[in-house]
Amino acid sequence: MTSATTPTPRPADDDWWRSAVVYQVYVRSFADANSDGVGDLQGIRQRLPYLRDLGVDALWLTPFYTSPQVDAGYDVADYRNVDPLFGNLTDFDEMITDAHALGLRIIVDMVPNHTSSAHPWFAAALAAGPGSPERERYLFADGKGEQGELPPNDWESIFGGPAWTRVVDGQWYLHLFDPAQPDLNWRHPEVRAEFEDILRFWLDRGVDGFRIDVAHGMIKAEGLPDVGFNSMTTGQRQSELLGKGRLPYFDQDEVHDIYRAWRPILDSYPGGRMAVAEAWAETPQRLARYIGPDELHQAFSFDFLDATWSADSFRKVIDTALAESTIVGAPTTWVLSNHDRQRHVTRYGDGEVGLRRARAAALLMFALPGCAYVYQGEELGLPEVLDLPDELRQDPAFRRTGESRDGCRVPIPWGGELPPYGFGPGGSELSWLPAPATWRSLSVAAQTGISGSTLELYRTALRIRHEHPALAEVGGITWLETEPGVLAFRRVAGDTELTCVVNISGADVTVSGHGRPVVASADLTERGDGHVLPVDAAAWFERR
Ligand code: BGC
Repeated sequence: MTSATTPTPRPADDDWWRSAVVYQVYVRSFADANSDGVGDLQGIRQRLPYLRDLGVDALWLTPFYTSPQVDAGYDVADYRNVDPLFGNLTDFDEMITDAHALGLRIIVDMVPNHTSSAHPWFAAALAAGPGSPERERYLFADGKGEQGELPPNDWESIFGGPAWTRVVDGQWYLHLFDPAQPDLNWRHPEVRAEFEDILRFWLDRGVDGFRIDVAHGMIKAEGLPDVGFNSMTTGQRQSELLGKGRLPYFDQDEVHDIYRAWRPILDSYPGGRMAVAEAWAETPQRLARYIGPDELHQAFSFDFLDATWSADSFRKVIDTALAESTIVGAPTTWVLSNHDRQRHVTRYGDGEVGLRRARAAALLMFALPGCAYVYQGEELGLPEVLDLPDELRQDPAFRRTGESRDGCRVPIPWGGELPPYGFGPGGSELSWLPAPATWRSLSVAAQTGISGSTLELYRTALRIRHEHPALAEVGGITWLETEPGVLAFRRVAGDTELTCVVNISGADVTVSGHGRPVVASADLTERGDGHVLPVDAAAWFERR
């Protein structure tokens, strides 16, 4: 094991994650310190003051481990090292030391469902042949058909096509994602022991938490039973059931044993080390089973991300998520965008309309109790880049399904007149994906200090969220009577209250009786003893 620097002691608030705002850093697209066109750990380090000033509490870093980068680092070849593309372990230590000194916590991504096919375990499994102990760490199986020429079952990769690939000796191995991402056999004690050690490796280096990739996937149903349909047989993709139905390779009860073993490890370190599940389950109730005092701390509410721009849709999702979180005693984890999904400016209608709605959604999210995750660039109001040339797209899913996640992964515009807008130092022109010309006015420099900019809206909202006693409470919300299409809820601490009103009604509404406005996503105008809240806007009002 490489020796770790002594971690800076964290403030003794073990429950920090319950109400934190966590900023997702998509490492390859955040900031490029060495001018190679790809973001890196030193780039993050240099931009830490920006993140502190933005007002977030923690960063989640997407995988920066040694990897062939077939799936942008979610194909890990060495879980205890940094890929040279992003730096080295010293860079990591320097970055986390500086982050902690600025009061920012660091969450790293853990990818336990699969390794890279370049992982030494997989190379050993291929070399050792059928029936060997080396193959036992993965999910190898004989095929069906007379010569074993058909895959062992009908499972489909999330990235499209069969979830099985045949190797030269005739066996097949399972990969729920790309063929370069073989699934591990989590019923194997060595796999369990290895990941417990990997967790300790990063905890020893001072990380404050983990985002667990495909947290619902590690255990597959015994006997690897068929699903019964796939896009080859009925035209319906199995992945359409994600979050809606049961699949034999996802959300098996036994997966919870893994987290019950991980929790004591996290709890044995000081300072409130946490884990957040990227989990897909059939119902909010099944999703809630991942969180609680003996499992993980959080699970992303993808239902919130998937809510359509309607008051009913948001209200239903918020009520369900808050009810579940009360039952399990953990706060809800809100998220609007991430590196796998179309940016919400675009999902909400794109252009000016999409941006107005995205700004309002931010005020909605930040006023809710629980933890909020911000995906890099949403504080700038970045839209999805829809017109990337196909030859530049790198998402492995693109070649198999025609769907690509590259449009939400375009590097952050920091400033300057020309693309890639300060992504690299000294006018470096390299960037692994090109930024559109329209991003010049969306850069950090272009928005800093500009009243009404999306960046300043985020800064103001996050400052109030931190300071306001009513928003500090982890308790529930009280919905207020409103006209149709308007969401209004209140949070109270003693005799202080904060009311969030979101206007999704399609017409201007007059809001009164909630006190003075403290932040709004669009200009408010006074009318009588209230304020006109325009269409697709949100505002917070306070009374003390
Ligand atoms: C990650 C994706 C990745 C996949 C396979 C997902 O949940 O967020 O970016 O492609 O897992 O690791």
